[in-house]
Amino acid sequence: MKIDSIIINTPILDIDFDNMETLGKGGDGIVKEVSSKQVFKLFCTYKEPWNSMFRDYTIHHQLFMRGHPVPYPFGFFKIKTNSQSENLSDKYKPGILMQKIKGVGYDDLKQEDYPYFNNLYEKSIEGCKKDGFLPKDVSRSHNTLFVPEKKKLYLIDFMQWRKKSKFSFLHI
Ligand SMILES: Nc1ncnc2c1ncn2[C@@H]1O[C@H](COP(=O)(O)OP(=O)(O)OP(=O)(O)O)[C@@H](O)[C@H]1O
Ligand SMILES: [Mg+2]
Repeated sequence: MKIDSIIINTPILDIDFDNMETLGKGGDGIVKEVSSKQVFKLFCTYKEPWNSMFRDYTIHHQLFMRGHPVPYPFGFFKIKTNSQSENLSDKYKPGILMQKIKGVGYDDLKQEDYPYFNNLYEKSIEGCKKDGFLPKDVSRSHNTLFVPEKKKLYLIDFMQWRKKSKFSFLHI
């Protein structure tokens, strides 16, 4: 399928993104809370937001399907927003709707949770590598969320990851 037809056919998610609470802002875009259970990661900083979003979503979805610890990926959508970057004047911008993780980043862990976190982190990354994924831009202190009550670690943000396989969602 051509990217243009995917852009046209991607469903619109009717949310008031501009007035939602921001949870994070980074190199790829803006993450906002849609509900107590969902967040939307908008891709608006790159020149090619659709390609960036597809890369991220393809890996994210494959990781989820193989049972790796990632937020539930509900799907990708386009939304109307005023959030602009210089290169983008499109009416709609793409993003990923995913499970909201009520967790903390590495720097906010309780001292006593560090050994458990570190162990889990190494096992999780090893598990992904064994499955043919090539993790990038992920370190203990970056792109992970930890839920202390459940002692559960989640990996997030897969734009720079690659998969050692010819198969890819859109061959990108
Ligand atoms: N599923 C989620 N549930 C809760 N918070 C999230 C979720 N995904 C992302 N966040 C929050 O948003 C921040 C940015 O997310 P992410 O790393 O995916 O975006 P980014 O644009 O790549 O940011 P960066 O360039 O800083 O890595 C995270 O550090 C986290 O605080
Ligand atoms: Mg990130």
